[in-house]
Amino acid sequence: MSAPPPPPPPTPDDRDGDARRSTVRRVHPAPHESVSIRDAYTVERVPHPDRPWLGVCMVTSLDGTVTVDGSSGGLGNPNDLEVLLTLRSIADVIVVGAGTVRGEGYGPPKKPGQRIGVVTNRGAVDLDQELFASGAGFLIAPASAEVDEDRVEVLRAGDDVVDLTAAIERLDAVVRGVRYVQAEGGPTLNASLMEADLIDELDLTIASRLSGGAGPRLTRGAEELDRRFDVAHLLVDDDGFVFGRWTRRR
Ligand SMILES: NC(=O)c1ccc[n+]([C@@H]2O[C@H](COP(=O)([O-])OP(=O)(O)OC[C@H]3O[C@@H](n4cnc5c(N)ncnc54)[C@H](OP(=O)(O)O)[C@@H]3O)[C@@H](O)[C@H]2O)c1
Repeated sequence: MSAPPPPPPPTPDDRDGDARRSTVRRVHPAPHESVSIRDAYTVERVPHPDRPWLGVCMVTSLDGTVTVDGSSGGLGNPNDLEVLLTLRSIADVIVVGAGTVRGEGYGPPKKPGQRIGVVTNRGAVDLDQELFASGAGFLIAPASAEVDEDRVEVLRAGDDVVDLTAAIERLDAVVRGVRYVQAEGGPTLNASLMEADLIDELDLTIASRLSGGAGPRLTRGAEELDRRFDVAHLLVDDDGFVFGRWTRRR
């Protein structure tokens, strides 16, 4: 018997975790006090002249894996979910790698007008899933990818591989006035975004657990490089989870 398909990731309307969320305290910057995740993460993000602001949102274990049993679901806690939902609720566009969509499943967004761009070189994405049937999903693909454009909107950038810089600069053609893009992994997409120096913000939850295994870390397959970030905030909850927000030092 095959395993049931994974449920779509939580949407901004899913608040089931509220009752289970433990107190969150800010340890940086001062004052050190209890904060709501919404207040901490709902800050102004100024787009670049030629492209929107781009943040990457991920959760990792203490030993650096971003997957347990092949998905991120086993790593988080209710406060981490709240971080994800808060950031989704303020993003205009979500971008995600095709591998994550294939592995975790992605439903349509709850925020009206929000679109979800799936990055793929091969175009090997199941267009029957609700994400695309709803019209919210679109593909970000190179010119060479064979995709039925009667069934899905495609943002073309690059010849044989996706040119992510061009794609992010052209997102306005898909969502007029886009200011904030949330990238939700996975590690292969993160690596490309890092190499292209498109990451303005990293919203990283560090789960208070060692997980072992052979899962990937935050980036996979990138060349060695040195991108510096400033810490914008560090929060910690009673569960020992750390919620960091880092912004690119330009
Ligand atoms: N802990 C977390 O917060 C978190 C978040 C997200 C995902 N994950 C986990 O990460 C794992 C997936 O890892 P992954 O590295 O395979 O993820 P991925 O980056 O989502 O998927 C890789 C695939 O996406 C497409 N892709 C990625 N970057 C691209 C680029 N620059 N240009 C063109 N296409 C690109 C390619 O698709 P095609 O093969 O179709 O060309 C590639 O094979 C899953 O187990 C998932 O659960 C964890």
